[in-house]
Amino acid sequence: MAKIFRVFLLSFCVVICSIFLMLLFSLVQAEDNISKSMDNILEAKNLGKNFLVENNNECILKEINIQIKASQWMSLLGPSGSGKSTLLNILSGLMMPSSGQVFYESQILNSLSDDKKSEIRSSDFGFVFQFFELVEHLTAFENIRFMLELNSLVDQDSDDKVKALLESVGLGHRKNHFPRQLSGGEKQRVALARAFIHDPILIFADEPTGNLDEKNSEKILELLKSLSQNNKTTIVSVSHDRNFIQYSNQAYEFKGYCLEQIK
Ligand SMILES: Nc1ncnc2c1ncn2[C@@H]1O[C@H](COP(=O)(O)OP(=O)(O)OP(=O)(O)O)[C@@H](O)[C@H]1O
Ligand SMILES: [Mg+2]
Repeated sequence: MAKIFRVFLLSFCVVICSIFLMLLFSLVQAEDNISKSMDNILEAKNLGKNFLVENNNECILKEINIQIKASQWMSLLGPSGSGKSTLLNILSGLMMPSSGQVFYESQILNSLSDDKKSEIRSSDFGFVFQFFELVEHLTAFENIRFMLELNSLVDQDSDDKVKALLESVGLGHRKNHFPRQLSGGEKQRVALARAFIHDPILIFADEPTGNLDEKNSEKILELLKSLSQNNKTTIVSVSHDRNFIQYSNQAYEFKGYCLEQIK
């Protein structure tokens, strides 16, 4: 009887120890996964994009895999028509991929509802669109302040913050100009200031220096760099300009439908 009891006790202890070890193992794994997902703020897995044009299914992007680390600057480089804007639109949830997934802070961005995606885009993301997308009936100052209004972030310091940002992109003297009264490069700088004003977690910048001369272009690249370093803002930029490589932490180049890491 005593022997049976000892065998039973031993088996019981073995089972308890196994359960304990399994729990410990899954805890360590969960912690590892959390730290990994915190490290990568945005991730693309096997992204593909086709457009249907006159019954032809045209492939634009294929098997795109990238991991974007928090507070870092990722540059995507490629010539005109290579798919830069398309990829940026997919990464930011503005466009659905044909295949694959985009992870943002461990959520699958492309499977969220349109409302949830808009909420994330408005509060967490800043955009510099290739064609600016400024509101025509608002002045430069109002276009930037509008982002704060959209996110209910207006307070007594807002106007000073907008003015300071306009100064930092060299447009203090153009604050009351409407978009139609601004040059292409000036509109681009307003678009940049608008992207930064609500201190977003992530900025998507489509050819942010595309309309600027060399001096202003370097100023904007420096501004983007200081933002990513000082404000811990993550930046994803696309451009044809190889000058971006030296400013960013990571760089990829379009090769065919895919991306190749160059930094
Ligand atoms: N809605 C669409 N329907 C069909 N084809 C499209 C559509 N949008 C983009 N394309 C095609 O996809 C390709 C990539 O376009 P995209 O705008 O992403 O290029 P890009 O690299 O940003 O070019 P650029 O440097 O000139 O802005 C182009 O050949 C374009 O014609
Ligand atoms: Mg483009």
